[in-house]
Amino acid sequence: MFHKTVNQKIEKIERNAPCWCGSGKKYKTCHMQFDEKLKKFAMAGYIVPDRSLIKTPAQVEGIKKSSVINRACLDNVGKAIRAGMSTQEIDDIVYETTVSMGGIPADLHYEGYPKSVCTSINDEVCHGIPDENIILKEGDIVNVDCSTILNGYFSDGEVSEEKQRLVRVTKECVEIGLQNVKPWRCLGDMGDAVHQHALKNGYTVVKEIGGHGIGLQFHEDPFVSYVSKPGTEMLMVPGMCFTIEPMVNMGTDRIYEDENNGWTIYTGDGKPSAQWEIQVLVTETGAEVLTW
Ligand code: MF3
Ligand code: CO
Repeated sequence: MFHKTVNQKIEKIERNAPCWCGSGKKYKTCHMQFDEKLKKFAMAGYIVPDRSLIKTPAQVEGIKKSSVINRACLDNVGKAIRAGMSTQEIDDIVYETTVSMGGIPADLHYEGYPKSVCTSINDEVCHGIPDENIILKEGDIVNVDCSTILNGYFSDGEVSEEKQRLVRVTKECVEIGLQNVKPWRCLGDMGDAVHQHALKNGYTVVKEIGGHGIGLQFHEDPFVSYVSKPGTEMLMVPGMCFTIEPMVNMGTDRIYEDENNGWTIYTGDGKPSAQWEIQVLVTETGAEVLTW
């Protein structure tokens, strides 16, 4: 997901009118205090989410059902993955699992993407396209990233398979990011925590591609950076849903795009890159993980 800009405004609602969240309650007994708090942050110069980014309980339920399929895809790939297998076989597993459970692979035909999953090996940072001629070898780092649509709700998650410290540290980065998802704090606090853990281990983090809001669309605002500074970027508020998916490089953070397929991103120096992805919901007290 590439960077895009964010803008928002908080529209006024009459106290006794029904709340915008669809709860059926009056605004004054539902999200009115929440909006007032949000407005204070906006006045103080923080970037705040607009209402389209705040998921209602019914929407969260829909996203959770979608994530069950996403999890099943990754579990099925995890069970089957082995040296000698083609990345097309991974694509077949994701497609079959998703469709048999009533879902649609969100990647398939997304902006012309030709397959149901991204399989990115070694120096491929992301958006590797499955192919029957690409065969996994012993010791490869393989990033399997799939997303699911069920009843219009989107989920997104991925696993890395390998044998290297890079993959372990990248997973730790995601866990540390998760610990730093707290309501009424900035996304930059989370992003910086991820970044520092990578740097401490001698690695770099890709700047141009990051995470994203998700739920009612595949890629919603905000863009989620993992090289951001504390106290910057959008405020995290209860009901927001986004991914934590840092791409951690062993060498340079420079990347380039495959000019032939227009999708696959590689590291600038040919050294390996790893990624893990979870989808989280910001709650009143912290975060709930929707896809692991
Ligand atoms: N799953 C990727 C993400 O995390 C997006 C892949 S888009 C595709 O944002 F078209 F390449 F599938
Ligand atoms: Co994603």
